[in-house]
Amino acid sequence: MKLEIVRPDEKRTGGRRDAAVAFLARPEKKGPARFESLPEGFRDAVRAAAPPDAGNDGSLFTLPLGPDAPARRLYVLGTGTGDELSPRKARVLLRGAVKALEKNGERTALVDFPFTLQRMTAAEARDFVVRSLLVAGYVFPRYKASAREAARLSALALSAGRGVFAATPKELKAASDEASIVAAASAFVRDLGNTPGSDMVPRTFADAVKAEARKRGVKATVLGKKEIERERMGGLLAVNRGAAEEPRFVILEHRGGRKGEKPVVLVGKGVTFDSGGISLKPADRMGDMKWDMLGAATVCGAVLAAAGLGLPVNVVALATLTENMPSGTAYKPGDIVTFRNGKTAEIDNTDAEGRVILADALDYAMGLSPAAVVDFATLTGAALVALGLEASIVFSDHDDLVRELVSAGERTDERLWRLPLWDDYKENIRSDWADFKNTGGRNGGSINGAMFLKEFVDPKTPWAHVDIAPNAYFEREHAGYPPGATSIGLAMTLRWLRDRAAR
Ligand code: BES
Ligand code: MN
Ligand code: ZN
Repeated sequence: MKLEIVRPDEKRTGGRRDAAVAFLARPEKKGPARFESLPEGFRDAVRAAAPPDAGNDGSLFTLPLGPDAPARRLYVLGTGTGDELSPRKARVLLRGAVKALEKNGERTALVDFPFTLQRMTAAEARDFVVRSLLVAGYVFPRYKASAREAARLSALALSAGRGVFAATPKELKAASDEASIVAAASAFVRDLGNTPGSDMVPRTFADAVKAEARKRGVKATVLGKKEIERERMGGLLAVNRGAAEEPRFVILEHRGGRKGEKPVVLVGKGVTFDSGGISLKPADRMGDMKWDMLGAATVCGAVLAAAGLGLPVNVVALATLTENMPSGTAYKPGDIVTFRNGKTAEIDNTDAEGRVILADALDYAMGLSPAAVVDFATLTGAALVALGLEASIVFSDHDDLVRELVSAGERTDERLWRLPLWDDYKENIRSDWADFKNTGGRNGGSINGAMFLKEFVDPKTPWAHVDIAPNAYFEREHAGYPPGATSIGLAMTLRWLRDRAAR
């Protein structure tokens, strides 16, 4: 989508648009809508045409504009009360606007956004709103003819000067350029996730990432089964044993920082389909497990975007990829697996496969002398039980790292909430037969997973584990996200990398 910036005094730049979008607030007390929230040029026309519910949260009406107006039709979206919106509400509103425009076949629109956002600086809010606009119309039409044929918006013009767009055209241009790069990475992550397990296997995942990397001049190395065997990644190989598709291990590098500067390493769980293996999952919603590779997609998207943005950081993504399938060759409960670092684990449940493949990846990360390691995984259903859909869980013994990540999450509305990683929990994963076991019972399910991963990280290395199971994908439209992969974690990570580069 094309983005343009229009200054208030040059409304006709770029010609007359199909549509203009304006947001209309309500007063705290009873009374007519707060028409002052509209751009001056639209106020009289809206006041004359407004239905009684105008300005109510969720309301929408449209009116034709005269020949001198900057657009043919005005869309007025009600926001309810308040001038400082939650980012979530802003995302819902912007998606509602884009969907309404596309439903009516509009191609070009002028957008005004007269509010500020909670928890964000002006620059962060600008970034957020532009990015939200760009991804608001995300669709995945690959397998659906009607979605392919639907009309799409082709250009959006940002109305500079008010609310979130109260910035110089130069600042707005910079925000749109950066937001476009992040939005493209977000669509890439979502596409990888939404592609069914039949077409998104470790090999096709690695190929897709390699193709993107080549376009941007990012170094991509893909280890195949032979090389994974040579690395003695016993965890990845054990989980892969039931699958007909071979595993892959992807290493993506953006070296934008000083030469010799220790890299940030991002590690992602890439189970392209998680049936549970021999500990087979129940049939109900098993199809959701095509999204069990979103940790891997997120870290690859982050490095591709970091390169696109030219961030002055050294950052490496490690994506560990396999299917988890039952078969005559599959790994079994009771098996003992030996990892790359020589430690062993008793497999209590083959469905706790994420930690088994991440163990080798985290150990590989330690070999890169990292400045910090953050792993992303749809690791536990228990994370959804704990937090619902509104946050991912962060685990770490490094308080500074937690503070940085939580702050980055607050400022991108990809929020994190910390749970403990105390050694007191270690007895949960004690095994009679091996160094640990891969499950720890129902109590503290997400913590047990994190405790297992902790065994593979040098305690001196700042490391955080992010369990994105709560919000990496949604089964249905939620909080301004369409059904399917959300790419939550991507913008947070890029914010964190930018913060690191700036300090
Ligand atoms: N991929 C699942 C976790 C998951 C469940 C993510 C639901 C998103 C939604 C993971 O591999 C898994 O199966 N975890 C088990 C662990 C258990 C066997 C200790 C779980 O959560 O039940
Ligand atoms: Mn599983
Ligand atoms: Zn899984």
